[in-house]
Amino acid sequence: MKVAVVGLGKVGLPLAAQYASRGLGVSGCDTDAGRVDDLNAGGCPVEGEAELEGRLRAAQKAGLFTATTDTPAAVAESDVVIIIVPVALDNANDPDFTHLDDAVADVKRGLRSGSLVVVETTVPVGTTRHRVGAALEGALIAASPERVSSGRIFRDLKTYPKVIGPINEPSWDMAEAFYTASLEAPCLLRMRDPETAEFAKLAEGIYRDVNIALAGELAKYADSLGIDVTEAIEAANSQPYSHIHQPGVGVGGHCLPVYPHFIPEGVNATLTRAGREINDGMAGYGVAKLEGTLGSLKDTTVLILGLAYRPDVKEASHSSALLLAQALSERGAKPLVHDPYFSNEEVMSLGLEPSGDLASERVDAIVVQAWHNAYADLDFAAFRGCRAVLDGRNSLDRASVEAAGMIYLGVGR
Ligand SMILES: NC(=O)c1ccc[n+]([C@@H]2O[C@H](COP(=O)([O-])OP(=O)(O)OC[C@H]3O[C@@H](n4cnc5c(N)ncnc54)[C@H](O)[C@@H]3O)[C@@H](O)[C@H]2O)c1
Repeated sequence: MKVAVVGLGKVGLPLAAQYASRGLGVSGCDTDAGRVDDLNAGGCPVEGEAELEGRLRAAQKAGLFTATTDTPAAVAESDVVIIIVPVALDNANDPDFTHLDDAVADVKRGLRSGSLVVVETTVPVGTTRHRVGAALEGALIAASPERVSSGRIFRDLKTYPKVIGPINEPSWDMAEAFYTASLEAPCLLRMRDPETAEFAKLAEGIYRDVNIALAGELAKYADSLGIDVTEAIEAANSQPYSHIHQPGVGVGGHCLPVYPHFIPEGVNATLTRAGREINDGMAGYGVAKLEGTLGSLKDTTVLILGLAYRPDVKEASHSSALLLAQALSERGAKPLVHDPYFSNEEVMSLGLEPSGDLASERVDAIVVQAWHNAYADLDFAAFRGCRAVLDGRNSLDRASVEAAGMIYLGVGR
């Protein structure tokens, strides 16, 4: 079987490497010519993905992987086409199908009869049939939303069942043969149709977003009572029906903050929409808590540790760091942002001010947004003049912050 992977990003490139590791010939297609040239010259444009570089090099050596900008030509030689380009949100928080529509138009130009097209991008329910399927009329189609998390993709591919919603029986036969050959997933979960597969992925994402919102709401209540919510959640979760997530200063990334918006206007999704609102309000809540402790934030300098939306990834999409910086600025503070994964230019490109060297930075307060491994040995005592630390992920040891002479604030602690 030959495979074309359309979209060589943080997910598409590891998928291409996975299929090639199993002996399939893979053409990786991307519109970014720089990325394609880099790959063909032996580079690896995706950072922080365990095993990726080694697998890519082995695949190239074995003649099983090449990258190209010519999607139609690659598709014309392929039995299976995997579409994994982003569907993000536009400025009105509506799904933006530009990349998907462009990719499908290219696929259509090369697609041969009998080849299977799988939509692995997370999409609003109905997109595979009514948008992709309608454009590729008569093709074998399936939806199989990718469930992995970047940074641990090869592990996730081996661990999670593969959810597949075929449009008809021949599509299932091809999809079953392809995923059995290309993955080491514990099992294939056949859905009755593409819509159910699309829905399952939205449900996973919305469940987590709403669950974290619940943890945030409980954290605020716990704060008002002087209770440590982490201790209470741990106790609650010791019973098998309780799976409360951890509260924090917000939910970022290009999945959880995005998928709730895939439920169309007019659908009654009160809880889902409230969850989004609560999560987006947590940065402001944390900053207000800091302000309440310090009296005022006017003319203070506040260091935000971690631009990435979660620890140890280089991904700032919808990061809570942006909402924290905004909330701090609104209260007259100057936010500085530090992240070992991002250059000063990359921080500035998001409209944020990068911090200088942490050892010499003078700040009035610190907000932990993403507690990267690189911060494990951070010495708070080195921040002379710093009065308080808001542990936005409840990741710190309270005693070590207090030993440095600073006030410790958590979310619900
Ligand atoms: N990143 C994750 O952790 C994750 C997890 C699960 C699922 N997903 C799904 O995967 C999708 C892609 O995520 P990602 O992190 O790989 O995105 P990404 O932004 O890292 O990469 C997308 C790639 O697609 C390319 N591209 C855009 N339009 C194209 C076109 N018309 N033809 C060919 N290539 C095109 C871009 O140049 C880029 O290289 C997400 O939108 C989501 O639906 C992502």
